[in-house]
Amino acid sequence: MAIKSVPVEKKPVKRITTHVLRKMKAEGEKITMLTAYDYSMARILDAAGIEVLLVGDSASNVMAGHETTLPITLDQMIYHAQGVIRAVKRALVVVDLPFGSYQGDSHTALRSAIRIMKEAEAHAVKLEGGREIAESIERILSAGIPVMGHLGLTPQSIYQFGTYQVRAREEAEAQKLREDAKLLEQLGCFAIVLEKIPAQLAREVASSVQIPIIGIGAGPHVDGQVLVTHDLLGITRDFHPRFLRRYANLYDTITNAVMRYIEDVKSVDFPSEEESY
Ligand code: KIV
Repeated sequence: MAIKSVPVEKKPVKRITTHVLRKMKAEGEKITMLTAYDYSMARILDAAGIEVLLVGDSASNVMAGHETTLPITLDQMIYHAQGVIRAVKRALVVVDLPFGSYQGDSHTALRSAIRIMKEAEAHAVKLEGGREIAESIERILSAGIPVMGHLGLTPQSIYQFGTYQVRAREEAEAQKLREDAKLLEQLGCFAIVLEKIPAQLAREVASSVQIPIIGIGAGPHVDGQVLVTHDLLGITRDFHPRFLRRYANLYDTITNAVMRYIEDVKSVDFPSEEESY
């Protein structure tokens, strides 16, 4: 496979907004979204042309090594988001509201969302769930904060689901998902992530709403795709869901580089005279 040269930053930069995403859907242009949790990676992804960066609560797994997304705190999400925002010139930055920061109490939800917008200067927030969290979504939207929904496999509910398997295979759950998607659109969400659901159901939902549907494990008939960057780059290794396409094997690349460094230091090949003062 030919390796393309690194794209040069072009000017002037036109920022991606929620309106741009809606227009992309209307015009049939697919939307690209990836996760980012830090400044250096966000800089690369933004310069490469990604339209949406998600400061996902998957940082809990990928950055902190937790088994689930539940332990990550609002303070930690804000810390990750601050680095990402400093890096970005073009992408829309969406930040996950972590578990426990919005469920059950819409006033707490609004306070959490405001902290993310104020302290990280994020562009939007993402929440998991449908009608159960409608009041929280409404309250956040009433403050002028754009909200992205997330339906299907919602990892913050993993202990309720009991497994990370495909959701909404049964008609009752599929019907609830259809209704939830409509509800999120009516409430005013600007987009919805659909995670790990049958492709035909995702297609149906995407054509039943005007707002963009971004899929992860939801097939090709949606308005855009999202992946966890560390999975796409092959930094994570022990995760092989069917929906994942790896575009690099950085685990091996990094291991080889570090092994060469160790060898060079041990043999006093590094630093050389040219690398010394
Ligand atoms: O936290 C995350 O990375 C996500 C994506 C999987 C959509 O929510």
